Formats: sequence, structure tokens, C-alpha cells
Amino acid sequence: MSHIGSYDQRVKNFDWSIAEKELGYHDGDPINIGWYCSDRICEMGKSDKLALIWEGHSGDVKKYTYNDLRVNSNTIGAFLKELGIKNDDRVCLFMDKIPELYIGLLGILKIGAIAQPLFSAFGDESLHVRMENAETKAIITQRKHVAKVRKIRDTMPFLEHIIIVDYDGKHPLREKETAFRMDEAEKVEKLDIHPTKAESPSLLHYTSGTTGKPKGVKHVHYSLISQYLTTKWVLDLHEDDIYWCTADPGWVTGTSYGIIGPFSLGITQCVLDKGFGADNWYQFIDKYKVSIWYSAPTAIRSLMKAGEEVVKKHDLSSLRHLASVGEPLNAEAVIWSEKVFGKPFYDTYWQTETGSMMICNYPGMKVKPGSMGKPFPGITAAVVDPDSYEVIDEPGKPGLIGFKPGWPAMFRTYWGNEETYRNKFKNGWYIPGDRSSIDNEGYYWFIGRDDDVINTAGHLVSPFEVESALLEHEAVAESAVVAKPDDVNMEVVKAFVTLNPGYEANDDLELKIMNFIRKKLSPLAMPQEIEYVKSLPKTRSGKIMRRLLHAKEWGEEIGDTSTLEDDE
Ligand code: WT7
Repeated sequence: MSHIGSYDQRVKNFDWSIAEKELGYHDGDPINIGWYCSDRICEMGKSDKLALIWEGHSGDVKKYTYNDLRVNSNTIGAFLKELGIKNDDRVCLFMDKIPELYIGLLGILKIGAIAQPLFSAFGDESLHVRMENAETKAIITQRKHVAKVRKIRDTMPFLEHIIIVDYDGKHPLREKETAFRMDEAEKVEKLDIHPTKAESPSLLHYTSGTTGKPKGVKHVHYSLISQYLTTKWVLDLHEDDIYWCTADPGWVTGTSYGIIGPFSLGITQCVLDKGFGADNWYQFIDKYKVSIWYSAPTAIRSLMKAGEEVVKKHDLSSLRHLASVGEPLNAEAVIWSEKVFGKPFYDTYWQTETGSMMICNYPGMKVKPGSMGKPFPGITAAVVDPDSYEVIDEPGKPGLIGFKPGWPAMFRTYWGNEETYRNKFKNGWYIPGDRSSIDNEGYYWFIGRDDDVINTAGHLVSPFEVESALLEHEAVAESAVVAKPDDVNMEVVKAFVTLNPGYEANDDLELKIMNFIRKKLSPLAMPQEIEYVKSLPKTRSGKIMRRLLHAKEWGEEIGDTSTLEDDE
């Protein structure tokens, strides 16, 4: 681990108090992430250091120092307080990757409220189920997204405020709507920071499971301890680094490592609020001299596809360390990056529920392309038997990943769903639901998920949600949704449907069904293909067996089909 000694030494001498000490935190003290990410950095004498360099899709640039971060988050916090938002109230952030999103999150945390970031590409129905679950009191959004909020607002009596950060006065505001312009607002120099404690709730991130509605993953302010230290040791951020995390704060990578990690370390980071393009990404690295880059396998595979010529057009010599998360990082991508950028992408494995990185490759440690690396110091990990949940000690033998609960950033519950939360713990292990093996040197090798959840381009999609949307269409009698292989996205969503009598299986109907479900699903969950079938494989009790359809798509052995009609 470069300047911090060897991995083995780190593990041996590890204690989370290392992070507590560096942050000046003592057990029982107030701990507020908003304060740690802005006020504290200013108190350390870095008020004038750049915190955020932002570039929008039309090329406009905005820059904020740590003092700007401090004062603007105060201003947003004070504005929310004025509206009547109190600690523990849920405030949704529903914006593109604009500065108000990054700074707004800190403002929400400063007043002790709970930030609920949601991906701005969500349609009104995706937004609705998540806000309904959280009983969100206020939503901060942009003009371009407000129509989606207006469509559902009347069904949400708990929603008291709709705050628009770029209101231009052209159309009258409706009831409950308020304009707030961060850059023009009168600055609040001093704000009473809510004395949140270690276990006070901080963030609510939504994630998809196999069945039912998306789950609200509750995090607490103490998560800072893990997020701070993993950012420092795994991403290897130094004082002069320019950091770029390509993730959107609608997802956990974009908050844990796109806001909390880098800002609590007082690092300069840049944000590009623009869609993916190999040329514009390289240009961005070149222009801002990005040194640490945290991205995702689908993006890396897209860059591979764009080829090496476009790489040569730019000066990427500023890059010092590259890391990846979200889906399996294939060995070819690691080898390609080493060849093209002169350094490999270091894989990291974790999830919304873990809140911080769990299994990683560390600077200075030998990278085995295709492996996720080793557990972060302080994390007790194992591969356990899927039936007994006993530790499997045999190198190379597959099992379920298990983590001993208790690391600081571990989620504390699923919002309003304690039972599902408890079910994630077996025989003293937290079970994230992924399969892996461990080799004789302690490296973890990802095998796959242990459920039917589809991971497309790093985004989890519940087959159940897609099936339900399909079933609402009058032509669809039954549906089954599985992953199918894809070069760039690794997995894409594929739907099988049977039709009701009177409907003809043709392209025109496929288009109609697609347009129908588009309104209900997140764009990420949209099937790439609908295949009409006469019937779906089922168990005796009528449960559709996605497993068989999945195996067919992946060209895998279907195995013993005598169980086809048996319940699992
Ligand atoms: C699931 C979590 C945490 C960041 C974004 C995703 C898969 C994550 C890896 C990796 C193989 C990975 C797992 C995990 N995953 N990282 N390095 N190699 N698979 O968060 O949406 O909660 O998804 O993504 O299946 O459980 P998430």
C-alpha cells in the first residue's frame, strides 16, 4: 500500500481507531459528515483550496473552494431549516450531476436530515415508489425534472416542499414549490450544525432486490470512518491529487467516493456532467490533469472498444492510479489498461449495503487480473457454504461471500423492512449475495450473484420489477426476465413473454410494449430484447424458472431437468 506499508502489516496492526484519530473523533462525540467535509477542512487551513471543479455538458465550468463548500452548504442547510425541515426528515436530491447536488447533500447532513439521492434519469414511477417508502418531506430538483415530480406529488401528502434550484421565473410556481438558487442566495456564514452522533441516520440509498420493491439502505454518520480510510488507502489520494469519480451520486459510489471520501480528505475533485464518450473523457483527464480515476467496468470496456488511436490524441500522463467498481472487472480490461495507460485498473468490490469498499486491490500489492483482491484491513471476510454458512477453508472452492458485521459503514437497516435486513445475516455473517472463491494467496475471485438480480452496466435490476411492468400491458399473459450476455455491459436485460389470445407476436407489438414499459421503468432496467414464447418453464406450483432461461442465454448446461416440475 505505497506510503502506508505492506498489506499484511496493515492487516496485523489494524484498528478503526486509526481513522478516528486522524479525524479527531472520540467515542461519543458528535460526528457530522457535512461538517467533516467542509468546516473541518477550512479549520485545517485549507479554505482556499479547490474542492470541486465542475464542467457541464455545454462546457461551462464552475469552481468551488472548501470555503465555498462550507458556506454554500450552510446556506442550503439554513434554507431547509427555514422551510421546517428537521433532523431525521428525508430530503430527496433529484438532480443531474450539478454542484447543487454535491453541496446540497452536505447541507442536508449538516441539519441532521437524511439525504435520499435518486438518479435523475428515473421516471415518475421509479421516483414515486422510493419517495413513498421514505415518506420524503422535501425534494430538491431542477426545472428539467420537475414535471416528473408534479405528476406524482398529489399522491404523496407527506411531501411538503419541492425546491427548484434553477427556477427562471418563466412559469408560475405551484403550491409547495419554492425557488432556491445556490450561487445567488445570500450566504449563511454560520450555521448551527446538528450534533448528529455516530448512529444518527445520514443517507438513504435505494437498491433493487429479486422480489418486491426497491429497498432503502439506511446509513449513519459513523460510516465516515470507513469511507475516509478506504478512500485514503485504496484510492491512494494524496494532498495534491486531482480526483475524478465517474459515478453519479444517485448511486452509492457517487456519494461514498464522489462526495464523502474525497471531501473528508480535503482533496480537489472534478465532475463531468456529461454522457460517456471516449474522446471527451480523455480530454477531461488531460484538461484537469486528473491523477486518480475511479470508474466502472462498462465504461472501461467502452473505452477499449473506442480503441487506442483516440488515447494517443491526449496527454494522459497525469494519471497515477486507476480503480474500478460495480461489476466484474474482466482480466482483459486490466491488461488492456496496463498496456494503454501504463497502469492497471485496480478492482474494488463492495455494495450499497456495505457503504464502503470491502475487497480491493491496493496500490503496491500485486494485481492478479480478474481477481477482486483481498479484504480491506479490519474487514473479516470469508467464503461460506451456501447451506450451512460454515467457512469454506479450501482454496478455489466456491461459496458465498460473508463479512463479519460491525465495520463502520455497514448499513443499519432497510427502511421500514427490518425483516429483510435480518435475513441478510446468517450464522454470524452478513451475506451480500455474491459467490466467490479464494485462492491460496488469499485473493478473491468473483463468480456471480447468488440471486436473479441482473447487473447491467453496473446497475442492479430486479427481474421482478421488469416482469411486473410487462404484465401490466394488456397483450402480455406471462413474463420472465433474465440477463443475457453483452460485450460492453456484461449483462443486458432480456424478457420472455407469452401473449394473451387475440394478440399477434410481431415487431409492431414489441415496440408498443417497449413504449408502454418505458414509462414505468428506469432507463437502465429497459429490456434490450423481447422474445415471444409459447410457454415459460415452471415449477409444479407455477413458479417461473428463470434459471433455465438464463442458462440457455449463456449457453450453459441446463443440467437435470427432471426437477423442472419440482419446487426449488
Ligand atoms: C453488487 C452491488 C458498490 C458500488 C456500486 C454497486 C456487484 C460490485 C463488484 C466487483 C464483481 C461487483 C456485486 C455486488 N459488484 N463490485 N468489483 N466485481 N461484482 O453497488 O448497486 O449495491 O451493487 O454489484 O454483485 O453485490 P450495488
